[in-house]
Amino acid sequence: MAVKKKKRIGVLTGGGDCPGLNAVIRGVAKAGINQFDFEIIGIEDGFLGLVEKRKVQLHWERVSGILTQGGTILGTNNRANPFRWPLKGKKEIKFKDISDQVVAYIHELGLDVLVCIGGDGTMSIASQLSEKGVRIVGVPKTIDNDIVGTDLTFGFDSAVSTATEAIDKIHTTAMSHHRVMVVEVMGRYAGWLALHSGIAGGGDIILIPEIPYRLDIIEHVVKDRSRKGKKFSIVVVSEGAKPEGGERVVQRVVKDSTDPVRLGGIGHQVADQIENATGLECRVTVLGHLQRGGTPTAFDRVLATRYGVKAAELCQEGKSSEMVALRGTEIVTVPLSEVGGKMRLVDLNHPLLQVAERVGTCLGR
Ligand code: F6P
Repeated sequence: MAVKKKKRIGVLTGGGDCPGLNAVIRGVAKAGINQFDFEIIGIEDGFLGLVEKRKVQLHWERVSGILTQGGTILGTNNRANPFRWPLKGKKEIKFKDISDQVVAYIHELGLDVLVCIGGDGTMSIASQLSEKGVRIVGVPKTIDNDIVGTDLTFGFDSAVSTATEAIDKIHTTAMSHHRVMVVEVMGRYAGWLALHSGIAGGGDIILIPEIPYRLDIIEHVVKDRSRKGKKFSIVVVSEGAKPEGGERVVQRVVKDSTDPVRLGGIGHQVADQIENATGLECRVTVLGHLQRGGTPTAFDRVLATRYGVKAAELCQEGKSSEMVALRGTEIVTVPLSEVGGKMRLVDLNHPLLQVAERVGTCLGR
């Protein structure tokens, strides 16, 4: 009698890291090994590992004890796009499509399915690979929470928690010194992180990319608070925020990256503007990559585990070209083709905006 061949499942983490990546890897691998007798192959450093042929066997022992660990045991990379592979010349970077080489390596490894854990850039590449016949299951990750098709990405709750704790700490020193404290948070072009941490931290002013801010309104709020005896103000500003009629602040351009623009610096601009307009002393704290580090919250550990287990189940059922997602409280799937290259921004009718304004938070409009 012929021995049934074990399914070989590849796992990679792509794009910027966030808390919960290891919890997903563990979920896929433990459910896969335990329940379905899969062999699990980890690809190192995202799609870069597929180009450079770097892999590692994920045995039970390797994925045990990693649930609470931040980062990713597989490593990650946000530059390696096989469809736009950078070839560095003397003067300029040229791009080449080397996806056939990557597909050939996936076949060489004998992968039945490749689980791609990542953000919209990773989902775009995953979707393109699936069009070339690679069987893919996607898992949505990012602290920005900007992936379409899912209510939540894992990593977001942990980043909100870190940012909120920071805002709480800024609050006490702001009160002591009667200062305006500006806290810049990440989030790219979406204001989810600023909105959630701003509300949770009791920010007086929250500025998000979706609502270009008016300085005259901010000035009025800060002065009014001061007149009423609140001599300090907390401003939570998303890195992608911009003034009405103005531009976003770009910190750097990473030419060979899948998404070259790195935002950052708006916090200083806002602080200067407020100080000039009000005469009040301002200080800036840029939270930066702190928001991507550390152990995942309990919520993210549960969500990441649910995503990982669902991904393993899809592999067992022979399904592919799908991304696992959260709708309400249910784990569902959405076609990968509907996800990549898009962004889920804060809708201007989103109830949280009204909630913020009802408790007196200024959104710069
Ligand atoms: O997408 C996650 C994120 O942290 C964004 O919020 C931020 O704009 C970007 O990545 C920073 O990228 P890098 O790690 O390349 O500086």
